[in-house]
Amino acid sequence: MRVFLYSDEQAASVEAARQVAALVRRKPAAVLGLATGGTPLALYKELIRQHGQEGLDFSGCTTFNLDEYAGLAPSHPMSYHHYMRENFFEGVNLPAERTNIPDGLAEDIPAHCADYEAKIHSAGGVDLQILGLGSDGHIGFNEPTSSLGSRTRFQTLTENTRTDNARYFASLEEVPRHAITMGIATILEAREIILLAFGAAKAAAVASMIEGPLAAMVPASALQLHPAVRVFLDEGAASLLTKKDYYRYLQQQCAGQ
Ligand code: GLP
Repeated sequence: MRVFLYSDEQAASVEAARQVAALVRRKPAAVLGLATGGTPLALYKELIRQHGQEGLDFSGCTTFNLDEYAGLAPSHPMSYHHYMRENFFEGVNLPAERTNIPDGLAEDIPAHCADYEAKIHSAGGVDLQILGLGSDGHIGFNEPTSSLGSRTRFQTLTENTRTDNARYFASLEEVPRHAITMGIATILEAREIILLAFGAAKAAAVASMIEGPLAAMVPASALQLHPAVRVFLDEGAASLLTKKDYYRYLQQQCAGQ
């Protein structure tokens, strides 16, 4: 894992966006794996800015989102379909037919999940997966104790995650209890991964993910198995790391190249 430390969320997001944009310029038919939540908002904003002001062209790209709440229609204001339209899709030129998000209303969920995996495969696999991080170390909606070999599937949310995500809903009661999520093995198949984490509430999960043992209790620790992960952190999220000086040294070397 390569760890990049920034003074704040904005600086980290702009650099992460620059790396996504570089891929899209290098490979106009790139397949992007997308995340939701508060964390990638500034990254999406910067990509939209580059689209508007610098001609960054997404017309050849395909996207696959990590997850969706089970039981929420795409039109529901709290659905990840709605989030993606509002925060990214409406600001860029992605063809709607090449944006993919699990269907929270799928009737046959196992068949829908198998189909989602097949679609990723037939698109050539994900070139770059963007990830946020749950405060309990989850990625996508792969909760602690998820199999490190898991694929896209139905998942029951923990109370910790429901409580964390209640800030986006009118009340905790309204937060769905289930989701459809790419599995950990699905995520690990992406060629490159960029994970963003901001704020002290993520510090313990960040430290376990990077410096802790590989463990199903910390799903993000599975990223230790992946050869091309870059982690973008602000000071709060990095605050419990023990090897910060080493990461800073590597980051400086990287900047000098
Ligand atoms: C949610 C999403 C994750 C996201 C995480 C962090 O549960 N399923 O993909 O990374 O929680 O959310 P936030 O960025 O809002 O802190």
